[in-house]
Amino acid sequence: MANVNVPAGKGMRGGKRAKAPMKTLGRLLKYAFSRNKVATVFVVFFVLLASVANVTAASRVSEIISRLLDYKPENHAAFMSNEMHTVYMNIIIMGCIYFVGAASAFTYNIIMMYIAQGTLKKMRNEMFEKMQYLPLKYFDTHTHGDLMSLYTNDVDTMRQLLTQTIPQIISSVITIVAIFVFMVMYSVTLLFVVLLIIVAVFCLTKFIGGRSAKNYVIHQKALGSLNGYVEEMTEGQKVIKVFCHEQKAREGFKKLNDNLNEVGSKANTYAFILGPVNNNLGYIQYVLVAFVGIMIIAFGKEIGLLSIYCSVQKADVANRVAVMAGMMVSFLMYSRQFNMPVMQVSQQFNAIVMALAGAERIFEMVDTKPEDRGGDITLSYGEYEKDKWAWKKPLVGGSYEYIPLMGDIRFKDVVFGYTDEKVILKNISLYAKPGHKIAFVGSTGAGKTTITNLINRFYDIQSGEITYDGIDIKSIRKDDLRRSLGIVLQDTHLFTGTVMDNIRYGRLNATDEECIEAAKLANAYFFIKHLPDGFNTVIKGDGANLSQGQRQLLAIARAMVSKCPVLILDEATSSIDTRTEKLIEQGMDKLMEGRTVFIIAHRLSTVRNSNAIMVLEHGEIIERGDHEQLISQKGKYYQLYTGAFELD
Ligand SMILES: Nc1ncnc2c1ncn2[C@@H]1O[C@H](COP(=O)(O)OP(=O)(O)O)[C@@H](O)[C@H]1O
Ligand SMILES: [Mg+2]
Repeated sequence: MANVNVPAGKGMRGGKRAKAPMKTLGRLLKYAFSRNKVATVFVVFFVLLASVANVTAASRVSEIISRLLDYKPENHAAFMSNEMHTVYMNIIIMGCIYFVGAASAFTYNIIMMYIAQGTLKKMRNEMFEKMQYLPLKYFDTHTHGDLMSLYTNDVDTMRQLLTQTIPQIISSVITIVAIFVFMVMYSVTLLFVVLLIIVAVFCLTKFIGGRSAKNYVIHQKALGSLNGYVEEMTEGQKVIKVFCHEQKAREGFKKLNDNLNEVGSKANTYAFILGPVNNNLGYIQYVLVAFVGIMIIAFGKEIGLLSIYCSVQKADVANRVAVMAGMMVSFLMYSRQFNMPVMQVSQQFNAIVMALAGAERIFEMVDTKPEDRGGDITLSYGEYEKDKWAWKKPLVGGSYEYIPLMGDIRFKDVVFGYTDEKVILKNISLYAKPGHKIAFVGSTGAGKTTITNLINRFYDIQSGEITYDGIDIKSIRKDDLRRSLGIVLQDTHLFTGTVMDNIRYGRLNATDEECIEAAKLANAYFFIKHLPDGFNTVIKGDGANLSQGQRQLLAIARAMVSKCPVLILDEATSSIDTRTEKLIEQGMDKLMEGRTVFIIAHRLSTVRNSNAIMVLEHGEIIERGDHEQLISQKGKYYQLYTGAFELD
């Protein structure tokens, strides 16, 4: 029910329910209000004041009406001076009470807005901070879209919950209780009539709502598929055009859109019926209350406090009718006022369920165990000797022992799989001596990138050991380990900023000259010079204004500026023409002096001069040796090299 208000585009996620709603609600409330205790007290106070004001104001009406009904022509003068005075006073009091109510509502809404905005700010901060320290594994199992929707949809439903739903529910509950008390005081019979209609409304809501909920889920699914389709087709525009599949894309969309139209009409028909039907039942309730009320007045039979009130007053019949009529008008107002918060609470229920599901997802992310920081052994750059890397081992007594970094990396019987079910690397053993260039070749999916992912501890191995200068990489502080590895990833990522900023990303304290020098070594200088603003050209949208090859050149320059003792190049030159690649290689040879390099390359000409070449297949090293050795073995490498067997 009341699902009509759900903004489009929430997709299927909106339909999911929280697993432990009460626990999540408690945590959320604590999160939002514990930091704002004083403000919270004020909010509760003003919500109370606003609801009580609204309820008490209506009771003035009975006073006014009973006074007016008491008018007798024979007492005209006395009536005008005494009774009318009371009537005016009551109208003024009523106005004042309503004004206090409005001012209170205004105040608590403003305070609540501040609390909510502050809470959301804190939450977004915590989420982002947390995200920076999540292990890579988390991103393998959570899509980009899911993560984005935490920051957008889920945070937004939380905002609604804090600024609208919670104050509304508090105010509704207070109003319901207060009105209930007033109604009991006035007339139990009439209250019974009111409750009867409310029960009818509930049954109807449940009946229609149940149908609509089923259709709503179907509707959400259809909406999700449509959104997914649009997203996919937007991303794939180029491919669609290449294969001239526009017509087909349109047909696919039309089908999904027709379906959405159909299920949407069904889901919304029920939801839209509900409002007007309930409204009209409200009018029926009005009529019934009026009818029964008049019966009570006519026959004077009433079990409620109203009759007691009348008898205590020992009033004459006319006076009694006046009092009762006044009360009845008040009661009619209450009966209208009563329905609204009852409906609101039942409608807000859905908003709460959705917001809690969102809160649960956010807390789940915030609660994910962060990547551990690694061991105690740290690395220093320039501390031990200018421009030199050194291991920094803590000694007892607070001093450090510096050991120059060599760049020796060894794998001993390494077994690894991204998941426990599937082993990717089987018993890999290899060594890279300082200054050696080790190449990995093999078909796509053989496990080349995976090997490099293990050196920098993007993932942890299942068994075996990886050592860096003889130290198990698990005992090295992760930040330092990664800082010492210059990595050019298979898919380059450029950030919004200038070309210079993007090169400097490799080492933040690099000077402009060093960045330009690195660009020259990477052979990126030439194309950068031809960009509109040279090194100050702003790169947008992950470098969409650059070619694939140019992006790779920037990534190489970035690695070169980092001055890392170990370089890992994962198909870093795959989109670069052979002539430029040769030039980069010359630059890189200079750079690689004294550095350990792992290189993964498609073109075997690139790896020819490596100290050792590993041929990988299905996660195993099937051949190893230098170029000459492998050629003379006449195995897989020989086949690849002579073209008898193509990569991929
Ligand atoms: N993040 C990941 N999660 C699960 N499996 C992965 C992941 N990355 C790669 N794989 C799988 O590991 C195997 C080796 O991949 P990879 O090392 O990228 O191969 P390549 O030799 O082409 O670089 C492939 O079968 C691939 O499907
Ligand atoms: Mg790869």
